Formats: sequence, structure tokens, C-alpha cells
Amino acid sequence: MLTDAHNRIINYVRLAVTDRCNLRCSYCMPEHMQFLERRELLTYEEILALMRPLAAAGINKVRITGGEPFLRKDLLRLLEQLSAINNINEITITTNGVLTQPFIPRLQQLGIRNINLSLDTLRPDRFRQITRRDQFHAVMGTLNSLLEHDMQVKVNVVVMDGVNTDELTDFVALTAQYPISVRFIEEMPFNGQGHDFSGIKWHYRRILDTLEAAYSLQKLPDAPHSTSLSYQAAGHAGRIGVIPSYSRTFCGTCNRIRITPTGGVKTCLYGQDVLNVRDLLRNGASEDLLLHEIRQALNNKPVNGQEAEKLAHKWDSMSVIGG
Ligand code: GTP
Ligand code: 5AD
Ligand code: SF4
Repeated sequence: MLTDAHNRIINYVRLAVTDRCNLRCSYCMPEHMQFLERRELLTYEEILALMRPLAAAGINKVRITGGEPFLRKDLLRLLEQLSAINNINEITITTNGVLTQPFIPRLQQLGIRNINLSLDTLRPDRFRQITRRDQFHAVMGTLNSLLEHDMQVKVNVVVMDGVNTDELTDFVALTAQYPISVRFIEEMPFNGQGHDFSGIKWHYRRILDTLEAAYSLQKLPDAPHSTSLSYQAAGHAGRIGVIPSYSRTFCGTCNRIRITPTGGVKTCLYGQDVLNVRDLLRNGASEDLLLHEIRQALNNKPVNGQEAEKLAHKWDSMSVIGG
């Protein structure tokens, strides 16, 4: 079992397989983003060499993130091999949906049922403005296809003051018919252009107040380590949630670590890499040594949201951190 210094059990790895993206969401990265060299990334063999001992030590959930995961060549090969590892019983993916649609049947065959889709607006023009790319229809095609395949879909909406705040209730309306979960996310400063972050204007309470002015919302129970506070509008098929990612109300029950595209280990979204497993693996480290180093690193995992903020050092793009 992997535990930290506060006896929290760590069973969830967020694995960022690339920092590259085919969108340029303004809250995530600048137009001219400097991407990593391919040789700097963990190879699939290295990822598996890391995940096998982690799974043996109790990691049973893996979320594939990026950047945009489907930009990584032959991602399905990695997913196949990950799903064959004993003890990994939940693989989930966070994707922007631009390239995802053709892969859905294969994902289903692999037993991957949960997809988190980033979509911050329901208007094509606004989509182009936010992401700086004209891919709205591709993403909507993916959303429809996910629903046709009975996948469990969470739509991630980053709430941006004066950009999409007039659409919050439109997203709730979407849940009337579709059994999706729409999650409104507090914007964080991880945009690769930190100086431009204007501070949090849409605290999760403000988001909820706005929604409650239009809908009668019922609180639903949340899983113990959930980042999201879940609600349902009366009579709707789907649900909604707010993610206090900036307020960090959920850090006390955090069960996750992050692996960056270059093999960095982060015990907190806000912290620096505390270890690099790629360097260890390229120097021939044994599984025991890898696990030993990761256990050591876990000792410094922050206990709550205030501690987490103290770790903030610079505002990397979310694509290098792995969301
Ligand atoms: P589930 O497994 O579906 O609960 O996913 P998730 O909410 O952990 O993952 P997802 O990739 O959909 O992320 C949704 C939002 O939550 C993103 O904006 C993340 O950055 C934010 N988030 C995820 N993990 C953390 C975390 O450890 N700390 C903070 N502050 N925010 C997080
Ligand atoms: N603040 C909040 N969420 C962000 N994401 C990317 N950058 C930010 C940010 N600065 C979200 C994406 C994706 C998830 C992994 O993180 O929209 O859904
Ligand atoms: Fe790409 Fe996701 Fe960043 Fe948007 S938020 S630029 S989709 S990695």
C-alpha cells in the first residue's frame, strides 16, 4: 500500500502522456507554446515499468491526461498494456475530444467507460475564441458518439469571467436530456503565462449561486476523494458539479499523484517535481528502488489547501503538469 505522512492512501495516478495539444485554450497555454522534445518523454516501456510496481503497491486507478493524450502516437497500445496490468481496474481519460471519436469502440472493448471531455462553450464562434482553433464540431461529434456508446461522460467547463459565464445555465440545460455530468471548474493560474492570471473571480460558491438562481438543485453524495461537489437539477437526466480547484477544499482527502510527460513525480498539482522516474529508469533502477523513492517523496505531500499553495513556485501550463 502507498500512504503519505498523513496516512492518506494513494491509489490514483494521473499520467500525462504528452504536453502537446492541438488546441490552445487561453487558460492553459500561449499560442506559441514551446513543446518538449520527444526524447524527453517517458517511452511506453518506461511508463509500464513504472506502473507495474505502482499497481503492485496499490495503485488501482489511472487517468490518462496531457496535453491531449490522443496526440501521442499509438496511444491505444499503451492503453491495452496498462489494462493488462493486475490491479489496475479503472482507466479513465481526460481529452479535448478533437481526435477522440474514431477510438471510442476500441476504448469500449478495453473496458474504458469514463471519459472527461473539456468543453468550455456550446457556441462555435466562442469555441474558436477560447481555444484559438476551429474544432467545435469535431468535439461535439465526439460527445454525441460517446453518448451513443453509453460511455460515462463528464464535461469539464473552466469558468472564465466575462468569457463563458453567460452560458452556465445553458450547460445545466444540456443535462435535462443527456445523462452527462457537467463540472464547472474554478480557473487556476496554470496557464503558462502566469502574470496574466487575474485572480479568481468565479469562486465555486458564486457559480452555485448563479445556477441556483435559475434551477432548483439537489445535493448528491460524492465519492470520498472526489474533486467535485455534485448536484442535480430537478427532473434532469444528468448531473452537474463544481470543482473548487482554486479554493482547494478537497486537498485533505487527496488520494493522487501525478506523473508528468517527462517522468516527473508530483505529489501535488501546486508543487514542483519531487522526483524524476525517467532518470531513475534510464539509470537501471530496480522496482524496489523506484517504489522506495516514491514512498520517500510522498512524505512531503501537503496536508491541505493552504499547504498546497505554499508549494506554488511558477505557473507552468497545465499541459506540462497533467491537469
Ligand atoms: P475524476 O476521476 O472524474 O474525479 O476526475 P478529476 O476531476 O480528478 O479529473 P479531471 O481530469 O476531469 O480534472 C477536472 C479538474 O479538476 C481539472 O481542472 C483539474 O485540474 C482539477 N483537479 C484534478 N485534480 C486536482 C488536484 O489534485 N488539485 C486541484 N487543485 N485540482 C485538481
Ligand atoms: N484552470 C482550471 N482548469 C484547467 N484545465 C486546464 N487548464 C486549467 C486552468 N488554468 C482543465 C482542462 C481539463 C482539465 C484536465 O484541466 O480544461 O479539462
Ligand atoms: Fe489542450 Fe487541454 Fe490545454 Fe486546452 S486545456 S490547450 S485542450 S491541454
